[in-house]
Amino acid sequence: MICVVGSLNMDLVIDCQRIPSVGETVIGKQFHTIPGGKGANQAVACGRLGAETYMLGKVGNDGFADEVLTSLNESNVNTKWIQRCSEPTGVAIISVDEQGGNSIIVAMGANNTVSKEYIVSMKDVLEKSNIIILQHEIPLTTVEYIIDCYAGKRKTIVLNPAPAMEVSDHVLSKIDFLIPNEHEIKKISSGISSDLEGYEPYIQYYLDKGVKNIIITLGDEGCLHATQKENRKYPARKVAAVDTTAAGDTFVGAFCAEYERGLNVEQAISFATIASSVSVTRKGAQTSIPYLYEIEEML
Ligand code: RIB
Repeated sequence: MICVVGSLNMDLVIDCQRIPSVGETVIGKQFHTIPGGKGANQAVACGRLGAETYMLGKVGNDGFADEVLTSLNESNVNTKWIQRCSEPTGVAIISVDEQGGNSIIVAMGANNTVSKEYIVSMKDVLEKSNIIILQHEIPLTTVEYIIDCYAGKRKTIVLNPAPAMEVSDHVLSKIDFLIPNEHEIKKISSGISSDLEGYEPYIQYYLDKGVKNIIITLGDEGCLHATQKENRKYPARKVAAVDTTAAGDTFVGAFCAEYERGLNVEQAISFATIASSVSVTRKGAQTSIPYLYEIEEML
């Protein structure tokens, strides 16, 4: 069983020719509201790809919450323990350009109320889980508290440090899989300069801090898996990208779903690479995440 603790957002998306710079207004194309949030996207990927999945988090008492919960329920994710609160459901304002690139601003709303007290009350679900997946769209103190409580208790702790924020050294040593993208890997510790050449110094830094596996997602360059024993690069599948939103979330969810099923790291990464390559060929966050049968047809 997988438990994702994280954000649930409604994405307010405008397609545009190019993303405006500071002080500039551009005329966009279509506007869409699409269920998102890094945590919820990762849970949807786990659920659609066949894993028994629970999501923990908070939403508001509004219509966005209803839509976000429906998307999770329809994706085979158990939402029983997600709580409503008086804050509004989290919202992300997303611009997507013609090359499929994006810029995102998140208003945390209810996600900010995912407190230690809530986590304590969810002890039963967390204790039953084999894999706990975390990101940085709930308070960092809560993320660190979960890692402190559950690391080493025959559970796999997966941290997708997005958006990039500093992670304490004592927490790094408890992470089984750290899955940042090419930008985040350079920004999650003040202990190492963020402008060094290449990934090698960062990989060594985090391995020395005790992280067991680092998987750096590199967009259309694929990904890099590093442990104390070896580094291995995995190429991406070549596709025509229309929207990269949630590609990283699809990778994280797909990787965990396969790893939980008993596949080894190499097999789970190869599967996740295919799943995320499918997601970039479709628009939106949860609207882009594939189902297991779609991936199986491609294998
Ligand atoms: O990773 C993509 C997600 O980031 C979007 O769905 C948005 O909600 C933000 O959380």
